Amino acid sequence: MSSHATTALLELNDIHVDYEGIISALRGVSLRVAPGEIVALLGSNGAGKTTTLKAASGLLGAERGAITRGNVRFEALSGAGLDPRRLAQAGLVQVLEGRRCFAHLSVHENLISGALGRRAPRAEVSADAERIYTLFPRLKVRIGSAAGLLSGGEQQMLAIGRALMVRPRLLLLDEPSIGLAPQIVEEIFDVITELNRTQGVSVLLAEQNARVALRHSHRAIVLENGRVALSGEAAELAERADVKSFYLGHAASEQGRLRALKLQQRGGASAAGEPPPRAPLSDVRDGTPPAV
Ligand SMILES: Nc1ncnc2c1ncn2[C@@H]1O[C@H](COP(=O)(O)OP(=O)(O)OP(=O)(O)O)[C@@H](O)[C@H]1O
Ligand SMILES: [Mg+2]
Repeated sequence: MSSHATTALLELNDIHVDYEGIISALRGVSLRVAPGEIVALLGSNGAGKTTTLKAASGLLGAERGAITRGNVRFEALSGAGLDPRRLAQAGLVQVLEGRRCFAHLSVHENLISGALGRRAPRAEVSADAERIYTLFPRLKVRIGSAAGLLSGGEQQMLAIGRALMVRPRLLLLDEPSIGLAPQIVEEIFDVITELNRTQGVSVLLAEQNARVALRHSHRAIVLENGRVALSGEAAELAERADVKSFYLGHAASEQGRLRALKLQQRGGASAAGEPPPRAPLSDVRDGTPPAV
């Protein structure tokens, strides 16, 4: 992948982010995602992964966060606090952590709601929904079910499917694997890879599950304390001893366990057939609708 030869689709240049004017979360993060690339954003709890994604998608404002220095560029849009709606129209769409969907709407209604901003003809929206059911056959089976009744894995699929209804060029995913059984994680990452390969959708994904993320990405960036600690080709990083010991070994699984516990405490019960916890739709913490 000749990422550096191509013009980047997304570029973050020396981004600094503060929350509430005092908490420094990012201290000079630069990264780029080229067209057709899958880039993984790795790092432990609090490293700044979610903050980086939200800086890119213009969603920091809702968290009382702000870019205090640096610049974001996506396609022709450039600035330090871009409007998330304009970014979505330009093709940048974020799936938030916690699989936020509309719990009381059906699977199909959730998908259709993803296309509302596009003002596309009904037939086109239906055709897009059909394509998503082809990608995620489990969603087709649950087409009429309230989203709140889905398993954690199905909720993640629905959240991704809903984002795809916007027809993104760049998909930002925040910990798609969190709390899901390994088989479901594989299924989800296989779809991400397929979307990338067949439709050229670029992906920037934050993950604590470095093993899975490195296997499915072209490049990776490791964040530590709001800074880029390492970056490179995913396959090369996966072979490095320091990455292995910090992110692919015991420390990583312990962190994943703690993180999962955190989500469980926020969320509640787990689904049959999948290990605890999953993020339930009640994880629509503050009543705000999903980002797309
Ligand atoms: N809404 C917020 N208000 C204040 N501080 C925040 C807020 N969100 C994040 N932070 C702080 O910013 C830093 C980066 O957090 P961020 O959520 O980006 O990390 P992360 O890498 O996504 O972690 P995790 O793996 O736990 O999701 C942390 O110190 C965190 O406590
Ligand atoms: Mg996070």
